[in-house]
Amino acid sequence: MQVNVKSSLLESIDVPIVVVGFTEEEAKSPKYDVINTLVANIVELGDFIGERGSSGLLYTQDMKSKRVMFVGLGKEAELTIETVRKVVGSISRTIRDHGIKHVGLFLSSFTAGKLEKNLVAEALAQSVIMGSYNEPYYKTKELEKIKQLTEITLFDPEILPGLEEAAYMGKVIGEAVNYCRKLAWGPGNLVTPSMLAAEAERIGDSHNLKVTVFDRETAQEIGLHSFLAVARGTDEPPKFIILEYDRGKKDADTIALVGKGITFDTGGISIKPSDGMPLMKADMTGGAVVLAVMEAIAKLDLNLHVVGLVPATDNMPDGKAYHPGDVVNSYSGQTIEVISTDAEGRMILNDALSYSAKNYKPKAMFDFATLTGAMHVAIGDHAIGFFSNSDWVSEKLEIASKASGERVWRMPLWEEYDEQLKSDVADFKHTGGRPAGAITAARFLSKFVMDTPWAHLDIAGHPEQKSDKDYNPKGSKGPAVRLVLEMLRTWN
Ligand code: BES
Ligand code: MN
Ligand code: ZN
Repeated sequence: MQVNVKSSLLESIDVPIVVVGFTEEEAKSPKYDVINTLVANIVELGDFIGERGSSGLLYTQDMKSKRVMFVGLGKEAELTIETVRKVVGSISRTIRDHGIKHVGLFLSSFTAGKLEKNLVAEALAQSVIMGSYNEPYYKTKELEKIKQLTEITLFDPEILPGLEEAAYMGKVIGEAVNYCRKLAWGPGNLVTPSMLAAEAERIGDSHNLKVTVFDRETAQEIGLHSFLAVARGTDEPPKFIILEYDRGKKDADTIALVGKGITFDTGGISIKPSDGMPLMKADMTGGAVVLAVMEAIAKLDLNLHVVGLVPATDNMPDGKAYHPGDVVNSYSGQTIEVISTDAEGRMILNDALSYSAKNYKPKAMFDFATLTGAMHVAIGDHAIGFFSNSDWVSEKLEIASKASGERVWRMPLWEEYDEQLKSDVADFKHTGGRPAGAITAARFLSKFVMDTPWAHLDIAGHPEQKSDKDYNPKGSKGPAVRLVLEMLRTWN
C-alpha cells in the first residue's frame, strides 16, 4: 500500500474519495464551510448524528474530491485512538468495495481536537491497511470481484514534524499484520516448514538479517530431541528456523521471539476429530507472528538485537510417529513423558526456548503459540492470555497493550500447578489433565527458560475472525503483531 502525507485544505483535496470524521458534538455544528450545508441537511433530517461507526456518502460540487464519506466517531469525551482504528478499519471495506483504489482521509477531523495528531495518523494508515485486507489466495475465478485499495493519502492543512514517520509506522505495522494473516491462513500443503524457511531467507536477504535453518539431521546433532519427536511422524522436512537482527548498538538489549510453527496439527496418534481440523492449518500463527515482526523491525531500523526462532513441522500420525506414553529427551536434558501427541506445541517450543536461552542469553524472551483450546475457553477472543515469570516483562506487555489496542490479560503461573505435571517415569508429564489446561501448559514451558525473564502468549483464541469486524476482516487476525511491535519500538 502506498501511504502519502499531503498538506491541503478540505476543499482542495483531489482524490476519488475523502473521509471526514465527526463526533456527535461536531455533527451538531459542522465546521467545514465547503460541506456545511450538506452535512447540516443530513443532520436535520436525523439521518446522521455522529453516532460511532455510522456513515454516509456525499457527492459534492464545490470540492475537487467529488465524494466525501462522513463517519461518526461517537461522543467526543469517549473518543480514543482505538475507536478511530475500529471505525476507520470498518469503513475502509465499504470504500474498497465501491471499487475505489485511492482513499484520502482528512486527518484533523479524527482528533476531536484532543487526540495527538501523529498518533491518529499512524492509526489511520494502520487501520485502513488492516481493515481493507482482501487476499485472493488461490482463487482463479471472478478475481475482479476481489477489490483492493492501493493508496492512502492523509491530508492536513498543516504538516507537523513527525507526521511522515508516524504514517510510515502505521504502514509498516499494518502490512506486518497482513503478512502474518496471509501466512497463517495459507493452507497446510503450501505453507510448509520449507516454505516458512524460504520466507525467512527472503526476509534475511532483503533486510540483511542472518538466517540459519536446521534440517532434521542438524537438529539431531544439536540435540533438539523434543522438537524431533513431533517431526518423526511426517515426511515433510522439518525446519528449525533462526533469524538474527543485529543492527542495534553494541549495548542494545537482546530480545528473543519464539513462535510455534506447526504447519498442520492433526493431533498425531492422539488424532483430532475431523470437524475442526481444517483450522489447524493456522497452527503456525505464532511462527508467522515472529516472521512478520522480524521483517517489520528491520524496516523500522530499531536499535535492538532481536532473535526470532520458529521451530516448524507438521504433526502427523505415521509409522514412525511418537506415541502417547513415550519418554522423550529434550535440548535441556530434561526428560518428558508424552501423554497426548496432540500436545505437540509445547514439545517443539521447549527446545526452542532452551536453545534460545542458552545460546543467546536474551534480556527477555517471548513466545507466541496457538497452544491450548483451554485458553480459548478461559477468555474467548477478547484478550490474549499471557503468562510470565517476570513482573517487568509483564508490565512491558501491558503498556504496549494499552497503546496498540491489542488486549492482553496476565494469567497465573503458580507453582502449585506443578503437581499436575508429576511423572512416574520422567522429569515431567507434558500435560496436566483438564483443569487449568492453559496454565499447566505454561507451567511446563517455564521449566525450559533457564531463569530468563519470559512471557508466553497463548493465542489459541485468536486464529480466526468469523466475520468482518472493525479492522479485522474475516479470516486470520494476525494476532499479537501490533502488540509486539509497539513493545519493541518503545523498548529502550
Ligand atoms: N493447536 C492446538 C490448540 C488449538 C486448538 C489451537 C484449537 C487453536 C484452536 C494444540 O496443539 C492442541 O491440540 N492442544 C490440546 C492440548 C491437550 C491435548 C492437552 C488442546 O487444547 O486440546
Ligand atoms: Mn495439538
Ligand atoms: Zn497444535
